[in-house]
Amino acid sequence: MKKVIGLAGSMKKHHSSSEYLLSVALEAAAEQGVQTELLRLNDYNILPCDGCGNCMNGKHCHLLNDPEDQLRELYDKLKEGDGFVFASPVYALSLPAVWKNWIDRCEPCSDEDLDFEYYNYDRVAGVKGKAFKGKVAGQIVVAAGPGHEWALSSLMPCFTAIKLSMIASAGISLIEYDGQPGIRKRPWSKPIEEAEEAKMMARAVGMRVASSLGFSYFDLPAGQESWEQQQAGGKEALAWSSFAIQNAEDEEVLLGDLASERPQVFVIGDQQASIRCGPLLEQLQQQLGGKADCALIARVGQLPHFITHEFVKGKTKETVPGFTLYYDWEDKLGPRCALAPGQPAILAGRSREEWQLFTLDEADGGNLGQALEYLAEAVV
Ligand SMILES: Cc1cc2nc3c(=O)[nH]c(=O)nc-3n(C[C@H](O)[C@H](O)[C@H](O)COP(=O)(O)O)c2cc1C
Repeated sequence: MKKVIGLAGSMKKHHSSSEYLLSVALEAAAEQGVQTELLRLNDYNILPCDGCGNCMNGKHCHLLNDPEDQLRELYDKLKEGDGFVFASPVYALSLPAVWKNWIDRCEPCSDEDLDFEYYNYDRVAGVKGKAFKGKVAGQIVVAAGPGHEWALSSLMPCFTAIKLSMIASAGISLIEYDGQPGIRKRPWSKPIEEAEEAKMMARAVGMRVASSLGFSYFDLPAGQESWEQQQAGGKEALAWSSFAIQNAEDEEVLLGDLASERPQVFVIGDQQASIRCGPLLEQLQQQLGGKADCALIARVGQLPHFITHEFVKGKTKETVPGFTLYYDWEDKLGPRCALAPGQPAILAGRSREEWQLFTLDEADGGNLGQALEYLAEAVV
């Protein structure tokens, strides 16, 4: 079951208006059939970033070793969520400092984040803040008077950096429902539970988060349609021929140009598939007896800022030694071929005009036989 985690950011332990509206949002999300959980940001002791720069150099944040620091606990909890609702009061026309304190520390902080193979090549987790990439969130901000509009936008650049899609925002001034003692003694003061419009807004945010799980604008589901449209229009060979990849020197080459000189057989793989790709290439090389050029196209999604192309190229060369390597740096092939992370495929181009793609499934070794049969014929 998908899970939506609500994160309350009030500094209050009791009678928080924003936390109340968060619970309303989560209730609405639960009605959509998702599991929900409410956490309080302030229950976690997150030490402030001291700017050491470890996280930008592929190293653990040293604060994670401090027994006082609880970022890892929060992070591990947030990783369970498929979507989030953040709720906060407005403090001084922005959010309370705990939010910024937390977001400053959203660099890689788990062992798996720092594991190159996993970190770089997992399509959903390819950038810092694995807990968030490819997920969706909504936010609810409560002010007494002015400032919710500023507060709503204050963390947007940070959320964008960690590739979290903010898909619904609700900001509201609730002066007559405000919980401050000075307001509550006024004759027009009302309990937050009666703030019907605010509850409607919170419900809408919760429902929207639940209904958009899996539709992050940073990691949309495979864009099959346009490719199918091209296929339906008989333009598949043309589309493959004009598909651009990068060679080891980062120069762009068109598949069609390569195939016009000699038949081409590409194994397509990402890092998770690479262990299978080497033997596959060797098998193809042997089988085809040098009648075609066998090469790897490595799919590489967005890289974190501290990983260079050179580093990736070095790593790929180590995994698939002895073969020509090409790179699809933006992972355009993943969605185009509807390839799952770690799923290899074979693309064979006998000429500019003739291309055939075989996706290989762990459970369906038969496809490989089919591919080999086609290749034996195609490259004679
Ligand atoms: C330090 C502090 C600063 C605040 N600054 C603002 C402000 O700039 N604008 C505003 O409308 N309300 C401001 N408020 C009021 C809170 O936003 C308001 O009481 C809110 O409902 C509190 O939400 P909570 O009960 O979830 O903590 C401030 C409150 C505090 C404690």
